[in-house]
Amino acid sequence: NALVVAVVGATGAVGRELIRCLENRKLPVGELRLLASARSAGQLMSFRDTSLPVEELTGDSFNGCDIVFFSAGATLSRKYAPLAVRAGAVVIDNSSAYRMDSTVPLVVPEANANALAPHAGIIANPNCVAAIATVALAPLAQCWTVSRLNMVTYQSASGAGAAAMDELRAATQAHLANEPFEQKVLPHPYAFNLFSHNAEIDEETGYNGEELKVIAETRRILHMPKLPIGVTCVRVPVLRAHSIALSIRFDGYVSPEQVRACLAEAPGVRLVDDAAKNYFPMPSDATGIDEVLVGRIRTDLGDPSGSTIAMFLSGDQLLKGAALNAVQIAETLISANAA
Ligand code: A2P
Repeated sequence: NALVVAVVGATGAVGRELIRCLENRKLPVGELRLLASARSAGQLMSFRDTSLPVEELTGDSFNGCDIVFFSAGATLSRKYAPLAVRAGAVVIDNSSAYRMDSTVPLVVPEANANALAPHAGIIANPNCVAAIATVALAPLAQCWTVSRLNMVTYQSASGAGAAAMDELRAATQAHLANEPFEQKVLPHPYAFNLFSHNAEIDEETGYNGEELKVIAETRRILHMPKLPIGVTCVRVPVLRAHSIALSIRFDGYVSPEQVRACLAEAPGVRLVDDAAKNYFPMPSDATGIDEVLVGRIRTDLGDPSGSTIAMFLSGDQLLKGAALNAVQIAETLISANAA
């Protein structure tokens, strides 16, 4: 039962990782179509032991496709995902276009695989922070009642695409050479600096668009539509792994040992919590791996009731935050259909 699979945005930062995930994982890919803009048409990209040409995305690109991954931004998803569904494909959309559409499942397989059915042809892949955070939050929310969350993020360049990663490299080289550098992709000096996430600020709340996505999507994935969540999103000069400082308030006391024991069994989590060596999750360790690293698990001294746990996570933004999660959604769908 080999599948015909297409990747829209194949030449982008997430698209390239999607191709690697399709190579390395179990999804039975018979034919792979690589789609991008006219600028990239004809460019060769490797898949397994062959070279495949990139094709220009058009309305006719989806004939015969079983699964189409979209990773080329919300505008293109809105325009082309319905065409792919009409052509008979299931769409797994990495953009924000459909994430809050109540008819579209928003899925992190470790957290809410049960939300996959029913679907009407489109499944949304969450915001990278929400995906990484919920891998650790969902198992805790299954064990205990979570009553409040606070997060601070340390977000990598990859979330803004391949061009932002290139810009971080170039800005760093210019800074070290003491040369002037003009930022074109991200709005502020990025080398040896950090800044509040560049998404637009909402006038009413003062939160930026990224923060509002994290709140709404985390609630949706956890099936807790009213969960109070505070979040501050920050871009840091890291290439491709996000980190998150989390405070989780429970209804009553939960010990750090209980949280550690719960997370030690949780799928997709790797505990990195070595206080003796002062060794905890770092983006350099999270880069290129599937698991979300979780550590610094301790009772939050900021809550006098003692019922809040603080922890620190790092996860690869391009993998669990995007491509890997999308491919895991496809794998979960295929194995559910086969059952
Ligand atoms: P291209 O490389 O041809 O511009 P990233 O998120 O890393 O910036 O990647 C964005 C992806 O979306 C790239 O693969 C890019 O292709 C693709 N893309 C951008 N604009 C279009 C378009 N008009 N049609 C198809 N693909 C597009």
